[in-house]
Amino acid sequence: MAKMSLADLKALRDQKRSEMARRTSEGKIVDIIIGMGTCGIAAGAKDVLNTFVEEINSKQLEGIVIKQTGCMGLCHSEPTVEVHMAGMPDTIYGNVNSEVARKIIGDHIQGKKLVSGHVFDKPATDIK
Ligand code: FES
Repeated sequence: MAKMSLADLKALRDQKRSEMARRTSEGKIVDIIIGMGTCGIAAGAKDVLNTFVEEINSKQLEGIVIKQTGCMGLCHSEPTVEVHMAGMPDTIYGNVNSEVARKIIGDHIQGKKLVSGHVFDKPATDIK
């Protein structure tokens, strides 16, 4: 590995700080939880995770935390993504790929509309 300059080290530190800030819920208004069990990873959950991070960075969205979880017991619908956001029902999306991840950011989080065709589960609206 080549030697890193002080500027490289500072840039790396800032990048890691911003990545860590994405993983704490404190002060955040949206939680995105990605199923990273064996079947999730096999179905492409890592690409989905990377797409969420890239999309949030490129749109410079604030207040969103991305978390990883293990098996959600939904092998048949992996990759699965759970979204918690004020003003929207808690939602589990299934069969999420990079394109769907971008729609979740654009439609659900920015547009406050569910991404039809990928909603695996949401609580009944009459249950509080
Ligand atoms: S390993 Fe697939 S749902 Fe748990």
